[in-house]
Amino acid sequence: MRVRFENVGKRFGAHVALREIELDVEPGECVVLLGPSGCGKTTLLRLLAGLESADEGRLYIGDRRVNDVPPAERDVAMVFQNYALYPHFTVFDNVAFPLRARRMPAAEIAPRVKEAARRLELDTLLDRKPAQLSGGQQQRVALARAIVRNPGVYLMDEPLSNLDAQLRVQTRAELKRLQQELGTTTLYVTHDQGEAMTMGSRVVVLRQGQVEQVGTPLGLYRRPANRFVATFLGSPAMNLWPGALDGGTVRAAGAEVAMPPSSRAAVAAAAGFEVGVRPEDVALAAAPGPGRAPARVVVVEPMGNETIAVLDAGGTRVVARGPADLPSRPGSTLWFSVAPDRVLFFESATGRRIG
Ligand SMILES: Nc1ncnc2c1ncn2[C@@H]1O[C@H](COP(=O)(O)OP(=O)(O)OP(=O)(O)O)[C@@H](O)[C@H]1O
Ligand SMILES: [Mg+2]
Repeated sequence: MRVRFENVGKRFGAHVALREIELDVEPGECVVLLGPSGCGKTTLLRLLAGLESADEGRLYIGDRRVNDVPPAERDVAMVFQNYALYPHFTVFDNVAFPLRARRMPAAEIAPRVKEAARRLELDTLLDRKPAQLSGGQQQRVALARAIVRNPGVYLMDEPLSNLDAQLRVQTRAELKRLQQELGTTTLYVTHDQGEAMTMGSRVVVLRQGQVEQVGTPLGLYRRPANRFVATFLGSPAMNLWPGALDGGTVRAAGAEVAMPPSSRAAVAAAAGFEVGVRPEDVALAAAPGPGRAPARVVVVEPMGNETIAVLDAGGTRVVARGPADLPSRPGSTLWFSVAPDRVLFFESATGRRIG
């Protein structure tokens, strides 16, 4: 089912939680809402679920305007941040709950619960109580309870937040497969940018109640609209160095940075600008060379498959991803250069990307 937000606003007293939200989710699409704590992600889902009411704007599920439709009639299922299972119910009864609440006959309930349990690999746990389950299993019960009803829209609020890193990656892959199999329109909240990149066909970046940018994961990564989106996506974060025009070339952190001809006029027109370079686009070398600038190694973090190096280039911090066997130690000097085709430019005053 299609979901649509038109100019939606929400206040809590004087606090503006959401402002002028415009969002269109295609039928069957999984859209990720990403942003820092307090930016309004949960509020946006709660508006759609009918647990909060919008102060402004229109909300649509399918063709129906739902602003005034009671929650039970909206055909959405929400998985909450804290999964809120009923502790005295068995797994079966927890999963069956939304069906019983809709007075479905028992003969129809059992096969549905079993099917949802099978999909989430809970078949053997149906008689247990939540306290007898691991965190990951409890999380899957909460997901089974959401899918058992086959609603028009899933609203998932950080559904993997209680899992450890390994289980999280595994459950994330299962959840993605499940969403694609079922083809159910999904709004998926996270503040984990890795999760956002993998789960959604599109990502909505929110900040302080406003949409900063909507795009495909790769589109946002490569062409962020502004400094906030640029630094929020990617780990370690994008380098931002004050830039200076030196004749026809750009200098930043002591290095020469190639500028695409298309950006030249706009960069020259900006009162001040910053150069954005992702750590993987900083190349390190052991000796000087054309276009290279020296930097002192401050921290070396071996990650197993690569090394994250933090350098100091005349007072400017430079973060680079290097090979696993990067031969350097703190205090030594390396030379770095910048891959020319991925460099971004941001206007200092507004943070907007130039070009
Ligand atoms: N019922 C409420 N009354 C007053 N303020 C609220 C209420 N619910 C949310 N807020 C405020 O609205 C803002 C958005 O809250 P929301 O829960 O949507 O953030 P979030 O993006 O989900 O954050 P997190 O990542 O921490 O879960 C916050 O500043 C929060 O304090
Ligand atoms: Mg939240």
